[in-house]
Amino acid sequence: MDGKTVLITGGTGGIGRAAAIGLASRGARVGITGRDRARAEEAAAEIRRTSGASVVDVFVADMSSQAEVRRLAAEVLAAFPRIDVLLNNVGGFWSHRHVTADGLEHTFALNHLAPFLLTSLLLDRLIASAPARVVTVSSGAQSMGKIDFDDLMGERKYSGQTAYNQSKLANVMFTYELARRLAGTGVTATALHPGMTNTAFSAEDPSGAFAPLVAVMRPFMRSPEKGAETPVYLASSPNAEGLTGQYFANREPKKSNKSSYDAAVTGRLWQVSADLVGM
Ligand SMILES: NC(=O)c1ccc[n+]([C@@H]2O[C@H](COP(=O)([O-])OP(=O)(O)OC[C@H]3O[C@@H](n4cnc5c(N)ncnc54)[C@H](OP(=O)(O)O)[C@@H]3O)[C@@H](O)[C@H]2O)c1
Repeated sequence: MDGKTVLITGGTGGIGRAAAIGLASRGARVGITGRDRARAEEAAAEIRRTSGASVVDVFVADMSSQAEVRRLAAEVLAAFPRIDVLLNNVGGFWSHRHVTADGLEHTFALNHLAPFLLTSLLLDRLIASAPARVVTVSSGAQSMGKIDFDDLMGERKYSGQTAYNQSKLANVMFTYELARRLAGTGVTATALHPGMTNTAFSAEDPSGAFAPLVAVMRPFMRSPEKGAETPVYLASSPNAEGLTGQYFANREPKKSNKSSYDAAVTGRLWQVSADLVGM
């Protein structure tokens, strides 16, 4: 990865920070994002210390806000003359329905619309840096997902799990549609499930019903380093060169939700997403 630049959203903890260490150790110039400058600077210092990298760039933005994503993209474009890999990692689970600054349901806005908007804003730079890769962290939960076009924002009925499943299916559909749109540009798009990983995932608004179960399962979950293996593989391995329009787990291609292969549905989701972010 010498000479390559990687932007990782959400590199302050969990899978993102472990992926940042893995990619910086391989020689990449890594930039991470987070909401809080002090936390992000602390993570960058640890990534530098652990990987031996001399520089780790820090960008601060609350990606649930579209204005913040736009400011983030402008700062990244000013700082990075090339972007070889965009790792869309930020995401989370909220048991209760929250509304963002843009008036959108938080899970859909952060897990799907933020990577959709950020990727769109960085696309010309990625194409100019080709061969380049867009890697998006989805989840095995995508298999239970359904895109409810009549109630995308869970206004009529909200469940944290349903919203999460939908957003992670949207990650896969976005990836497949992006791969189609990028054909011939040298920029690839892949999505992945990192495996059940012991991180701060869902800690901001834990589910009353699942919290005790998660506590019991925690010791059996993967370490963040193990959870980062597939994203690091897709971002950096020569064996992953040219792979596009696919979903992976444990570094292997896997079948995703049946609906994700329906180009009419992925195209419709793309259009609705573009409208929601004003592209
Ligand atoms: N852990 C699992 O078992 C698991 C399983 C399947 C899929 N995943 C997926 O893996 C990805 C990473 O999850 P994780 O487990 O590593 O979670 P995590 O430990 O909670 O890390 C989340 C990262 O996202 C950042 N973040 C959260 N909200 C943000 C916001 N509004 N704006 C900007 N950054 C924000 C956090 O940074 P700050 O808090 O510093 O802002 C942090 O760096 C997610 O997409 C998740 O859906 C995880």
